[in-house]
Amino acid sequence: MPVESMTDLSTDYQLDLLATGVILLDANLHIQAMNLSAENLMEVSANRAMGSPLEALLDESNEWYPILNQALTDNYPMVRRAIPLTTRTGQERTVDITLSPIAGKVDSRCLLVELNTVDRLQAISRDESEWQAQATLKEIMKGVAHEVKNPLGGIRGAAQLLAGELANPNLQEYTDIIISEVDRLRTLVDRMLGPRERMESEPTNIHEVMEHVRQLIEAEAKGGLNIERDYDPSLPDFLADAGQLTQAVLNLVRNAWQACGDGGVITLRTRVYRQFTVGGNRHKLVCAVQVSDDGPGVPDDLLPRLFLPMVTGNASGTGLGLSIAQRIANQHGGLIQVQSAPGDTCFTLLLPMEI
Ligand SMILES: Nc1ncnc2c1ncn2[C@@H]1O[C@H](COP(=O)(O)OP(=O)(O)O)[C@@H](O)[C@H]1O
Ligand SMILES: [Mg+2]
Repeated sequence: MPVESMTDLSTDYQLDLLATGVILLDANLHIQAMNLSAENLMEVSANRAMGSPLEALLDESNEWYPILNQALTDNYPMVRRAIPLTTRTGQERTVDITLSPIAGKVDSRCLLVELNTVDRLQAISRDESEWQAQATLKEIMKGVAHEVKNPLGGIRGAAQLLAGELANPNLQEYTDIIISEVDRLRTLVDRMLGPRERMESEPTNIHEVMEHVRQLIEAEAKGGLNIERDYDPSLPDFLADAGQLTQAVLNLVRNAWQACGDGGVITLRTRVYRQFTVGGNRHKLVCAVQVSDDGPGVPDDLLPRLFLPMVTGNASGTGLGLSIAQRIANQHGGLIQVQSAPGDTCFTLLLPMEI
């Protein structure tokens, strides 16, 4: 790339399409330009960061400065792997950095910094395999459900015929049991199959969905629960099935309530992520809905199979809540992820906003 175009980084919007964060620093390590990915990574807008020293964006604990200075002094490109990065807002990440000293327009030398988030790359491949696992699981479930439901119809019909033929009406008690148990199994299989396949998409305001869920849960909890809200008001409406999303968020909030109990704090949060990858597909805008609670956290042994149906840590649970919620997320092209530690558990529902 010719040197002039490098220093015109700020006007080259195509750099905003890169997943790699790109920052151009002058010889004093002041910011000359940064692309969208770098803005997201550093949690600052390029406009605000322009001209300020890099230190303004980073926590003092970062190990960056010696490396940056060395690259400038040696005037030699270098790559450093797995460098911790802590932003001023306290976000911790791990990045690979590539440093290229280049000739600038005004200054004798500039430093081009490329940042690749390591944890992000890991998260992408993990969420791609989660996505595939969900798709496979759904196929298996469909097959099993079909195999189970077919004979159930036959059993129910036969029990009804039998009931009509029984000479002793007292014996009908038994055919009634057969019929009611068959019905129970059929309902269970339907629930395992999850939400209906066809979505009714319409422009949806996610905050209306969340407020609806909040009101439902607060009515159920009768004042014992503290729900905090941290919504991003700039989030636009997007195409979704509001009824299904209500179900998904309700399942998450209900779990949070069961986990933290009365007196616990649940936080409902919304955010917009730009140029974000979900299930291996990159999206321009992704809506993130987070449900956090301060309960004891997800038991370690459940964590790897949490979204499978019938997995429950609750004696009276069905273990269907999360698998249904995940299925709804998948139908919207999205995904639910979980991070859990004692006192801080967060379920994130990622929804691509194809608007
Ligand atoms: N916020 C949470 N904190 C702690 N554990 C959770 C949370 N959400 C879900 N879990 C665990 O995941 C299990 C599965 O949840 P779910 O699929 O909704 O089924 P169910 O609620 O019927 O058990 C729960 O039983 C619980 O052990
Ligand atoms: Mg549940």
